[in-house]
Amino acid sequence: MSDGASSSATQTPSVAPSVLVIFGASGDLTSRKLMPALAELIDRKFLPEHFSVVGVARTEMSDDDFRTRMHEAVQPALPSWDTATAQFRYITGEYNEPATFAKLDEVLNEFEVAMGGVCNRLYYFAAPPSTFPILVDSLGQAGLNQPTTPGGFVRIIVEKPYGRDAESALELDRVVHAVFDESQVYRIDHYLGKETVQNLLALRFANAIFEPLWNRQYVDHVEVTVSESIGVGHRGGFYEEAGALRDIVQNHVMQVLALILMEPPATMDANGIRDEKVKALRSVVDFPETDLDQRVVRAQYDIGLVEDEKAIGYRNEEGVSPQSSTETYVAMNLKVDNWRWAGVPIYVRTGKRLPKRITEVVMHFRAAPHLAFAQKMSKKLEPNSLIVRIQPDSGISLRFGAKVPGQAFVVRTTSMDFAYDEQFTEEDLDGYERLLLDALLGDQTLFIRSDEVHEAWRIVTPLLRAFADPDFPLARYAAGTWGPTESDAMVQRDGRKWRQP
Ligand code: NDP
Ligand code: BG6
Repeated sequence: MSDGASSSATQTPSVAPSVLVIFGASGDLTSRKLMPALAELIDRKFLPEHFSVVGVARTEMSDDDFRTRMHEAVQPALPSWDTATAQFRYITGEYNEPATFAKLDEVLNEFEVAMGGVCNRLYYFAAPPSTFPILVDSLGQAGLNQPTTPGGFVRIIVEKPYGRDAESALELDRVVHAVFDESQVYRIDHYLGKETVQNLLALRFANAIFEPLWNRQYVDHVEVTVSESIGVGHRGGFYEEAGALRDIVQNHVMQVLALILMEPPATMDANGIRDEKVKALRSVVDFPETDLDQRVVRAQYDIGLVEDEKAIGYRNEEGVSPQSSTETYVAMNLKVDNWRWAGVPIYVRTGKRLPKRITEVVMHFRAAPHLAFAQKMSKKLEPNSLIVRIQPDSGISLRFGAKVPGQAFVVRTTSMDFAYDEQFTEEDLDGYERLLLDALLGDQTLFIRSDEVHEAWRIVTPLLRAFADPDFPLARYAAGTWGPTESDAMVQRDGRKWRQP
């Protein structure tokens, strides 16, 4: 991989002495995702002896309160985590106050001395996106945007969503690039840290047998499903502002799509891969301004039954307006205008409160041109498909026709299945573990480059505009079902249907 060392489990990565500064240290992401990820990295000795954390947020806490909170965020506790948290520091402060950053400078200098003169800095923006510009500005004003030692590093990890639409993302870039060079910026999307998302690259570019079929000549259509059984839980307030488009489509879905559609990269390094991803996203055709509802379905869940439990409707969730028109489900029919994919529809659906949690990509191949034995078969043979299951139970299935034993020549669809955890015993790193480690190692491959973000916003911006119009149809579906009938109708108009995962 790219600029830094690889974090592959088979090599020993070497992270330089560093401090992770977390803005938003009293929040949900820090406790639920970042601390468990760090604890795992520390326990598996991926991080150096000289590594620590400084938390920054407005909540009043002493160093000891913060240490206790971070310690409790990891269950069951690990002895190595006890030792690590004992060094953590906490700063109470506003992000627009110079005093907060003067204090941060002081604490980082103390670490630098304690670490023998070298203390690299990784700033993690785990606070609300509205604070990102002021954080960048304040770090710049305080002169905390440059390494203090030759060869050292200062990097920022920026959480999603990066902007609210095409214009605000450009504006955020302008602010960020006034203080940090693009090589210091790590825009995170935890989907890219998933082993199985990365496996899309291996499947396509480490095997000679799939790539010749991976184009308009053999592929009839592509289906991407990101389905969740959970509702919005306590995140109603956040979700009202985001909706499925900003929460899942603009980032996770677009990243998976880019990996499916892209051309083979010249090199497997950060720019090699990201150059091809951005080219692929650029080929996705703008949605039309008229008849958009023929290509896009937005919907919201009503009361229903999910995994045998009663679920309330979205409008009754905590923090949600009883008149809300925020989409909890989106289905889209995307077109791609390039040599490889022209004429191949890409159907995408994502939603909360669907029957189960599953993320998968299905390549539906064209039907065999002629079936000499077709008249002997009572059921139409389904065309071949390749199912890449990203989560859960990660794996790959190839569905094909095989002769049913017996005298008659009857062919039935069957499948060859590969399950990740049956084949590999190696311990993998989860999304946040992998990405934190990569950022510390200086490997930007699995982070999103500025131009990718803008292409993803370009694709979804016409939908954001349309959804802001109260007249745009808002379909409804019962919680625990596979979405509204309008979504089935959208693919049926093309003579196709969604796969039942
Ligand atoms: P929370 O609301 O739980 O936490 C926000 C944090 O930011 C708190 O520590 C809060 O601390 C701090 N904060 C907020 N405003 C200010 C301010 N003006 N000055 C100083 N501190 C501030 O949010 P999450 O942890 O859920 O999300 C954080 C980021 O991570 C968001 O960008 C979100 O989109 C992203 N994210 C979250 C995921 C999750 O699962 N939670 C998943 C993917 C992305 P205090 O009130 O003490 O100031
Ligand atoms: C987050 C979204 O980015 O991804 C959540 O904000 C969503 O709404 C989550 O539930 C899904 O992630 P995963 O890894 O569970 O598929």
